[in-house]
Amino acid sequence: MTLRLAVLGLGRGAVLTVPALAAHDGIDLVAGCDPNPAAVAGLGKRGFASAEALLAWGEFDALYIASPHEYHAAHAIAAARAGKHVLVEKPMAVTLAEAQAMVAAAEAAGTVLMVGPSHGYDPPVELAARLIAAGEVGAARLIEARNFTDFLYRPRRPAECDSALGGGVVLSQATHQVDIVRRLAASPVVAVRGWTGGWDARASEGAFTAQLHFASGAAATLTYSGYARYDSDALAGWAGELGGLKDPQAHARARAALAWADEQAAKAARTFTAGWPEPAPPQRHERFGSVLALCERADLELAPQGVVVHGDHGPRAVPVPLPPVQRANVADAFVRAVRSGQPPLLDGRWGLDSLAVCHALLLSAREGRDINPAELIQGLP
Ligand SMILES: NC(=O)c1ccc[n+]([C@@H]2O[C@H](COP(=O)([O-])OP(=O)(O)OC[C@H]3O[C@@H](n4cnc5c(N)ncnc54)[C@H](O)[C@@H]3O)[C@@H](O)[C@H]2O)c1
Repeated sequence: MTLRLAVLGLGRGAVLTVPALAAHDGIDLVAGCDPNPAAVAGLGKRGFASAEALLAWGEFDALYIASPHEYHAAHAIAAARAGKHVLVEKPMAVTLAEAQAMVAAAEAAGTVLMVGPSHGYDPPVELAARLIAAGEVGAARLIEARNFTDFLYRPRRPAECDSALGGGVVLSQATHQVDIVRRLAASPVVAVRGWTGGWDARASEGAFTAQLHFASGAAATLTYSGYARYDSDALAGWAGELGGLKDPQAHARARAALAWADEQAAKAARTFTAGWPEPAPPQRHERFGSVLALCERADLELAPQGVVVHGDHGPRAVPVPLPPVQRANVADAFVRAVRSGQPPLLDGRWGLDSLAVCHALLLSAREGRDINPAELIQGLP
């Protein structure tokens, strides 16, 4: 059965993911929805200006939601009630109550709720998780995830810099690192100690560091700055987040552009208003900064081409074949979940747990104490 797919929100996130969904032979991309008519025209499919109008038409089976975070819950709940399967962008919602309501709506409707893409799906992460699960290297004991980016100096909507609306880097960016380290640790997070930094008017939280403790006894550290002049992609030969080669001047250029650009026009230029991206076969995998998983019998270094296993006899590169299009595995996982009726690995409950870790980080930073993310979910009304 071919899945008739509609896309809600035709912005930057959609530009990065729609090509993989549209290329999947189990998916027929039938419609797009965005209040911006230029974005709808850029997709070149049947178009709608509002979620209500799209759902009233209803001639599709599944919805990819890439609207701004603050609309995810309303859109996903309305879609589930209309019997549509949902792939919702990360973070799945702004608040935990919203995320829980999304999970409940999908469970009541018997529809798939999958969260992503996030870098938790990157093929090197999947390989490292498989090596760990297969017992080849033992369990992960200490994981380090680090990324220094220009996130806050790329064009942003005002809400993306406003913590009250889910802006700042914790919900948007920590969620990638949380998904990655949760996959590698394969154990629930039982305590989070977090710190956030804000030293620029562009966001109250532009940087963070956190220590996560897992039920298994493993620990992870996450470190991130979206204010960075230093570019941590230098550590991977300038392999960038999307698998391209980075210009070492990229961070400097992003800051310089903001000094003169009309930011909202610059933001819109990175969306479907500019049409479909030029297809280019991937040369490297997508990645999210540097990730090292020190395991009982070897250390795993996530690399642009796969995983480097540092064992007793030295390093050994284990490549992962490149996909025909980035994020093909996300499209596969979504189609598989719909066809099989089995929840995907990163389902609504997974997304709720990752969002709880992000909120635990924020709360820990405010209150200066360890927070168990499960208690934030249990405390929901
Ligand atoms: N996984 C990724 O790699 C990735 C990358 C970028 C963004 N994202 C996620 O995608 C989401 C959108 O972020 P973005 O950077 O694409 O923002 P964006 O501003 O580029 O795009 C958002 C789009 O949604 C549209 N929109 C606004 N209100 C809407 C509504 N009520 N109904 C339908 N469409 C509406 C806007 O007109 C715009 O075209 C966020 O949750 C973000 O975290 C994910």
